[in-house]
Amino acid sequence: MNQQIKLSDRLSAIFDMVSFNNVVADIGSDHALLPIALVSSGKVTRAYAVEVNEGPYDMTVKNIAKYNVENYITPMLSDGISELEIDVNTITICGMGGNLIVDILDSNKDKLEHVSELILQPNNNEETVRIWLVNNGFDIDSEVIIFEDGVYYEVIKGVKRAIEGRYTKEQLYFGPILLANKGENFVNKWSKYRDYLKSVLSKIENKELSNYKMLSGLVNLIEKNL
Ligand SMILES: C[S@@+](CC[C@H](N)C(=O)[O-])C[C@H]1O[C@@H](n2cnc3c(N)ncnc32)[C@H](O)[C@@H]1O
Repeated sequence: MNQQIKLSDRLSAIFDMVSFNNVVADIGSDHALLPIALVSSGKVTRAYAVEVNEGPYDMTVKNIAKYNVENYITPMLSDGISELEIDVNTITICGMGGNLIVDILDSNKDKLEHVSELILQPNNNEETVRIWLVNNGFDIDSEVIIFEDGVYYEVIKGVKRAIEGRYTKEQLYFGPILLANKGENFVNKWSKYRDYLKSVLSKIENKELSNYKMLSGLVNLIEKNL
């Protein structure tokens, strides 16, 4: 258990958001590098690596053995959080579409009773994930955008606590913390998307089409918030 793992920037950002000494369930663990790094570093002492598919599950088991952390990580061949153990208080779900993340959480909400934090890294539909969090008793506690291999990834941490006031639609779309900070990756991500939308709009001849109006509304929204 002495081998240190070098995580990608994306997985490092998720690692950083996990609270010390919590018990973690990494859902869709695949290579299991995140829970392996968490226990190898001593940040947490127990983790579960959950996989629904046999191929990735085999990889999970193999890597847990390779890094000699069998006493600290339990691999589980299981669907989402349907068999979540009662001692888990941090769930990580990373590298999947936002709708799948929400489906996984929504289909077994009763399992979340003892869970205090959800660290989610949707590959898309981040707004859907934020809406689910705030509608289900998790406030948005921290957010970051990572640029890796030409892709912008949003990492969102929800913490179980009452939310003061209400988030605006714009905060849920862009991320309340990301919007307040407007860091370099935020500006670059949304500028790039704005430019892409503009190139799509330039090819639409009929400016009365509802699609044209919807996309140009989105361009205006992005420009207003850059
Ligand atoms: C792209 S990988 C992401 C791996 C890792 N979490 C990461 O971020 O690098 C997504 C993994 O989620 C798994 N998966 C998809 N749906 C799942 C579910 N309902 N329960 C558990 N695992 C699931 C897939 O088998 C796949 O291995």
